[in-house]
Amino acid sequence: MRFEGKVAIVTGAAAGIGREYARGLAAEGAAIVGADMDTAGLKQTGALVEAAGGGWRAAGVDITDEAAVERMAGDAAGALGGIDLLINNAGLHLGDYNETTGLDVESWRRILDVNVVGQLLCAKHCRASMRERGGGAIVNQSSMASFMGSGAYAVSKLALNGLTVSLAREFADDGIRVNGIAPGLLASDAAMAGLDEVTKQRVLGGQMIQRFGKIEDAVSLVLFLCSSEASFITGQTFLVDGGSVPRL
Ligand SMILES: NC(=O)c1ccc[n+]([C@@H]2O[C@H](COP(=O)([O-])OP(=O)(O)OC[C@H]3O[C@@H](n4cnc5c(N)ncnc54)[C@H](O)[C@@H]3O)[C@@H](O)[C@H]2O)c1
Repeated sequence: MRFEGKVAIVTGAAAGIGREYARGLAAEGAAIVGADMDTAGLKQTGALVEAAGGGWRAAGVDITDEAAVERMAGDAAGALGGIDLLINNAGLHLGDYNETTGLDVESWRRILDVNVVGQLLCAKHCRASMRERGGGAIVNQSSMASFMGSGAYAVSKLALNGLTVSLAREFADDGIRVNGIAPGLLASDAAMAGLDEVTKQRVLGGQMIQRFGKIEDAVSLVLFLCSSEASFITGQTFLVDGGSVPRL
């Protein structure tokens, strides 16, 4: 029970990986604020979090809306006594976002807004409460694509890695550590639904470990990064990708 008495905000908690981050933190004692635009999905996550023994509040927010993010952080701090952990997991990743010049400018602006500016806003508005609680931890959900991918998605996640370093430097004196995790393909429903057989084989062919990543593979790293076991680690983004190798 590494997070007894702690309060964690998990964005993108209505589905997939975010739902499992919420459940994993709750199973180790944290109270969870699940933030997402999908309020029906949040309801399902809430039931799972409560079954895992954690306290739960749902926050229906678009993380690009600064006033809504500020209200969410204020509400979490007021209702639950403060904020200790922020998992910046919400992100856009499906559709045409692997395009570069082929993607229209409006979509470019939206993905940068959600995948970078949204994470910045959540960190900015959680900071004061974390500082008052004596420090905390933030984990940004990046992607393996940030290290070798192309297209708007990869660019957005590379920018997020930069934000991780920037926030780590700025928040260090408040006792707030900021790290990132960069998974390869994780078999969330959303990720697997869009993949044809050829692409699945190409993904496996590029990995040393011949299986698809499981969401639990990411959950265990996030829990570690949030815990006191990681108290000397900040500003880093960690790959969880089955040993992906460049195609020779
Ligand atoms: N699944 C993978 O293979 C994989 C690999 C690497 C990184 N990631 C990253 O992990 C995160 C979650 O992926 P997933 O597979 O669980 O996807 P998902 O689409 O199932 O979940 C994303 C969640 O984010 C929410 N969201 C999107 N925009 C939002 C906004 N503006 N405000 C609030 N909530 C918003 C969605 O409603 C959704 O519930 C994403 O950041 C994604 O880029 C996924």
